[in-house]
Amino acid sequence: MLLTILLLLNGLLILYVICFNRKRQQKEPPLDKGFLPWLGHALEFGKNAAKFLTRMKEKHGDIFTVRVAGNYVTVLLDPNAFDGVLHDTVSLDVSRIRGLSIQKIFGLQMPNNMHTSERKWMEEQFKGVNLIELNSSMNINLRNFLLNDGKTCSASEWKQEGLFSLCYSLLFRAGYLTLFEGSNNAAAVYKEFRNFDNLLTQLARGSLKREDIDISREKLWTFLSPQRTNGRMQSWKQSYQDFLNNEGVVEEMQTKALLLQLWTTQCNTGPAVFWFLGFLLTHPEAMEAVMSEIRGLSTLTDISLKRPSSKLMAEHSTPVFDSALRETLRLTAAVMIRREVVQDKVLVMANGQEYLLRRGDRVCLFPLLSPQMDPQIHPEPQCFKYDRFLNEDHTVKDTFYKNGKEVKYHTLPWGAGRSSCVGKEFAVKAIKQSVFLLLTHLDLELCDPEAKLPPVNPSRYGYGMLHPEGDLQVRFRLRRMYSDM
Ligand code: HEM
Repeated sequence: MLLTILLLLNGLLILYVICFNRKRQQKEPPLDKGFLPWLGHALEFGKNAAKFLTRMKEKHGDIFTVRVAGNYVTVLLDPNAFDGVLHDTVSLDVSRIRGLSIQKIFGLQMPNNMHTSERKWMEEQFKGVNLIELNSSMNINLRNFLLNDGKTCSASEWKQEGLFSLCYSLLFRAGYLTLFEGSNNAAAVYKEFRNFDNLLTQLARGSLKREDIDISREKLWTFLSPQRTNGRMQSWKQSYQDFLNNEGVVEEMQTKALLLQLWTTQCNTGPAVFWFLGFLLTHPEAMEAVMSEIRGLSTLTDISLKRPSSKLMAEHSTPVFDSALRETLRLTAAVMIRREVVQDKVLVMANGQEYLLRRGDRVCLFPLLSPQMDPQIHPEPQCFKYDRFLNEDHTVKDTFYKNGKEVKYHTLPWGAGRSSCVGKEFAVKAIKQSVFLLLTHLDLELCDPEAKLPPVNPSRYGYGMLHPEGDLQVRFRLRRMYSDM
């Protein structure tokens, strides 16, 4: 008994020395442990990561190590040093951190090393003929929900709604039907998904108990549980189930994997369309430039068209639209790219200075802060400038500089490296199709012409596209004649 107590005390002492007594070693980044034992900066980080990291950047510069809930996290904010993190597969590992958060949030445990084969499978699904079919199906579903089902809007009366809920609901239901089969429960799944999506960030941050999200997760598992629909074309969901079967994943885990994929594939496009339209509606000069480009496309083809077809967007280049979309993503895409240091590593900064990363620590890139909001790369970074990614001759502007040196990564909305977005092309098409439909087939206006975009919900930093705190009220109805445009 005495021996057990002594061993326990000894263990606690070692833990204390490891956790609380860390000192900055030579060549290591500045260390900021925060005042709270073990927790360090966890509370401030969780409350508003962007504000906290901005404060740390002002204090320490482009690289520093902070203590967050027992972990030491080195934050790197020099985009010209990102390659040293993104392409190092020997000293840095992505799978353990990813596996831990997937297990915590989705209750999912996948066989070791499955991520590589799963990624390969995903890449196949979102390219070539598969991508063409998915794009076409998404376009049909968007049109059906918006123009044909009579529930979203009608020509006879104005409807009022929050723009965020209009966009999220439309994109989710169309995306769900496109990938997760043609059942008629899309609205119910959407309702539960939003509930789950709201709880998810709290669970990830540890401010919610697992039980609090269980009911929502179980409802979604019921909606998603593997089923076979005979006689219809193989859906994306069924192909994914086949892949999981081949990998030997048991049925219970398949359902959990389906929820992870539902979240990954559906949580970003709706919010992206909201910010895009929100910026256009609150910046008349940007709206006019985008609409003028769309009008130009219609005259290229059939001037007598009553309603322009979204094929126009696919068949012609749209540099103004593309620049406005990139600007939207620069301001509102907020991924955190995380790695675990599995062996000591020397990281070289753009100015040649070297820093030592310690085994067992974590590394984090937060592209929203740098490069996306870096005033040296993007002057007046808080402002929405629809033509920021356009050259004067209307070609795509792809070269940006910091301190006279070209920056390789000037925005990173899709992540980078081994965990970057495999659905990027599908997502861009879906955003284009839906914004085009909403702008050309609806009369859409702000309820209050002076309204401003709502602020960002600070708890969403690090989880892909940001959400607004509140909503932007709009009124809309189906447009009668294209000539009104
Ligand atoms: C505006 C829309 C979107 C944005 C900004 C976006 C962004 C991202 C980012 C930043 C990641 C990396 C996450 C990380 O490193 O933790 C990611 C991963 C992923 N995205 Fe997207 N995404 C979008 C839409 C989509 C869509 C529509 C799909 C598919 C239908 C999709 C499929 C995926 C998949 C499967 C992964 C996981 C890749 C992996 O684990 O290797 N995304 N996305």
